[in-house]
Amino acid sequence: MAGRLAGKVAIITGGSRGIGQAMGRAMALEGARVVLASRKLEAVEAAAREVAAGLPEGSVFARACHVGDAEQCRDLVAWASDHVGAVDVLVNNAGTNPFFGPLLQISEEAFDKTFEVNLKSAWRLATDVARRLVTAGRPGAIISVASVLGMRAAPFQGAYGMTKAGLISLTQTLATELGAARIRVNAIAPGLIDTRLAGVIVKSEALTKAFTDRTALKRVGRPEEVAGLAVFLASDESSYITGHTFPVDAGYVAM
Ligand SMILES: NC(=O)c1ccc[n+]([C@@H]2O[C@H](COP(=O)([O-])OP(=O)(O)OC[C@H]3O[C@@H](n4cnc5c(N)ncnc54)[C@H](OP(=O)(O)O)[C@@H]3O)[C@@H](O)[C@H]2O)c1
Repeated sequence: MAGRLAGKVAIITGGSRGIGQAMGRAMALEGARVVLASRKLEAVEAAAREVAAGLPEGSVFARACHVGDAEQCRDLVAWASDHVGAVDVLVNNAGTNPFFGPLLQISEEAFDKTFEVNLKSAWRLATDVARRLVTAGRPGAIISVASVLGMRAAPFQGAYGMTKAGLISLTQTLATELGAARIRVNAIAPGLIDTRLAGVIVKSEALTKAFTDRTALKRVGRPEEVAGLAVFLASDESSYITGHTFPVDAGYVAM
């Protein structure tokens, strides 16, 4: 299929809904063969069917993968490589935010889970995909979904914000270490996007207003509004861009 990502194979974690599913649809529409992954097979299979609507057979695949589990991460990359094709694009999108409250009150269990799912998984998957690319001498693109809360203070979402700041650091370091191998590494930092993960905020008028008042556009975003940047960063159009984090935030970090 023709398109800006024709011939490329992309893995997107957290692909069963929200931003991950929207990125999957946008990438598949541009000709990529996309492997969507999330913990729940049924959910990610349903998402893959939606994403595949109207596209040629073999454009979209679904796999179960809990990114907090090292073996499942290895299996995901190996399965995609063996059954779909050598992986050109990895999107570390799966994320969790199990605790909303002050850092003084977060349990160690919630803290560790946030780091395991949001940050350690990205290092795990990125290094696996990068090793394969280096061995094969192929270029590639690694994209992580960070957050504006990794660029600014994250009151009541402190551990989450720390993991997103960590993703930005991971992005800069991997970009530096992998540039010579033609592997580009970038991150996207969404503001407030209407998804299940952001439910605590978007369902509360007061919390939504507290965020949108600090933006230029004064509104919540939609997952599709994040997806176009992911396509660009995965494509050869961004061939001279690496090591950066791009806010998609209605102007939040500009204010
Ligand atoms: N929405 C926002 O305002 C916002 C802002 C900034 C950044 N982000 C980031 O955007 C990314 C996507 O979130 P979203 O807003 O689109 O939320 P979402 O709609 O709730 O989607 C989260 C996705 O992650 C998957 N997931 C959760 N835990 C997982 C795990 N341990 N292993 C594998 N998959 C897992 C979920 O599927 P299963 O439940 O089936 O596993 C789902 O597909 C996250 O990294 C989030 O931090 C979101």
